[in-house]
Amino acid sequence: MAFPADRPRRLRRTDTLRKLVRETELSPSDFMLPLFAVSGRGVRKPIASMPGVAQLSVDNLVEEARTAYNAGVRSLILFGIPDRKDAEGTSAWDANGPVCTGFKALKDALPDMVLVADVCMCEYTDHGHCGPIERDARGHVAVANDRTLPLLARAAVAYARAGADIVAPSDMMDGRVAAIRTGLDENGLSDTPIMSYAVKYASGFYGPFREAAQSAPKQGDRRGYQMDPANVREARREALLDVGEGADIVMVKPALAYLDVIAEVKRTTNLPVAAYNVSGEYSMLKAAAQAGWIDEKRVCLEILTGIKRAGADIILTYSAAEAARWLQD
Ligand code: PBG
Repeated sequence: MAFPADRPRRLRRTDTLRKLVRETELSPSDFMLPLFAVSGRGVRKPIASMPGVAQLSVDNLVEEARTAYNAGVRSLILFGIPDRKDAEGTSAWDANGPVCTGFKALKDALPDMVLVADVCMCEYTDHGHCGPIERDARGHVAVANDRTLPLLARAAVAYARAGADIVAPSDMMDGRVAAIRTGLDENGLSDTPIMSYAVKYASGFYGPFREAAQSAPKQGDRRGYQMDPANVREARREALLDVGEGADIVMVKPALAYLDVIAEVKRTTNLPVAAYNVSGEYSMLKAAAQAGWIDEKRVCLEILTGIKRAGADIILTYSAAEAARWLQD
């Protein structure tokens, strides 16, 4: 026979036919919007490498969150930029700092928004590493794993008390999920879930974020604690460890160069899987769109669809509010 019997094009003829057989449908409630909190009032300090993203004082944070909420976004994750940094990162649990005061204001203004606290020391330490540093037995500078754990637990408790619905450790210390779980439980916060950045790679795609959060390490890099981009079996190991320690949601980060890892983690655990469409991925999209080289709306929705198709139940993305509006167009 000259023609194939199986003709997939039959189902592509009209928009409604295509919609009928669509396998992956994005929804604004899939998205989680990252926001950066600073102290002060009326502050909106744009991040040059992330067009459309700014450091915001609490009043503007609430407005930004409301805009996203009105577009259909139902969750956000908060990062803090403190006024003061020290070797241990003690501003991380400051009840009067921008993160804790931000959560209180957000809870009052938008009680239905899921508020997530990023838990890490790198924004709060003066050296920019994700925990206090020390010289190891060989004389090398390294992050002190076990000394970091109580600091993370203390910060997580402070955020949950201030109104965070979920805490999300992004430091990559071994044992932090168990330490945070214990800290929350001992403080009457046993119903606060942990979304762990279980599979976080040492990635060049975090560059713009480190400008936004002022958290670039002064010396060295994060390869001694974040994962090697070449590894996927290790991703399984990390995810299962965090499941065993009590994680409620596991995350893969970054997203685009790691779609296979998202799929693998989805197969490995029964937990919801989050994927972080990180700063460098956003900046590439914005830069190409600003140059007129790609259609931003189309490419953005294509990227987010790809991340969801790979297995993500939740997508952290700086495009959350825009994408949510585009989905309603
Ligand atoms: C903190 C943290 C980072 C990101 C989220 N939490 C930066 C890092 O590990 O250096 C990156 C997010 C992004 O690039 O959008 N540890």
